[in-house]
Amino acid sequence: MSKEKVKELFHKNIMLIGFMGTGKSTVSSYLKNWLDMEEVDLDAMIVKKTSMSIPDIFEKYGEAHFRDLETETLLDVQKREQLIVSCGGGIVLREENVEAMKANGKIVLLTATPKTVYERVKDSKNRPILNGNMNVEYIEQLMEKRRECYLKCADIIIATDGKSVKQIGEELVQKLLA
Ligand code: S3P
Repeated sequence: MSKEKVKELFHKNIMLIGFMGTGKSTVSSYLKNWLDMEEVDLDAMIVKKTSMSIPDIFEKYGEAHFRDLETETLLDVQKREQLIVSCGGGIVLREENVEAMKANGKIVLLTATPKTVYERVKDSKNRPILNGNMNVEYIEQLMEKRRECYLKCADIIIATDGKSVKQIGEELVQKLLA
């Protein structure tokens, strides 16, 4: 499948969602290079807009304020098209976000087991949601709590455990165009 073909067939934004550590950013930058599409990362946009890190925003203004910034940023991004959008793990928590994603995007859910997620995020200091709870059990509980929200809005689901980013990218494009 040529990248021209993908672009020709696919005008909406590709919304990458999923729990922390499921590989959204990695897959996003792979797709950007492979398909020659523009990539945006909502968290990075928030950091740029506020000149603050995500942990600092949580600490100083609280999670609700971060969620407001997240929605605001998503709504701006959804005015554009043909983007690869890497979303924060909590994007599905607001119905308003889900509606905005659906209106102008195909929603791709990346999944991984709690153990895999733990291995990928255990050294991260950038995930306030896991502060003080960096262990497999907590990740499993939170994932379970969010599972329904993720599944409800996904157009496509890709399990990432044991797959290379190339395999994930190819599976994604195949499912997108199916
Ligand atoms: C969050 C996930 C993070 C970031 C914020 C909250 C969450 O993004 O948006 O720390 O609630 O799951 P990543 O999924 O890219 O780590």
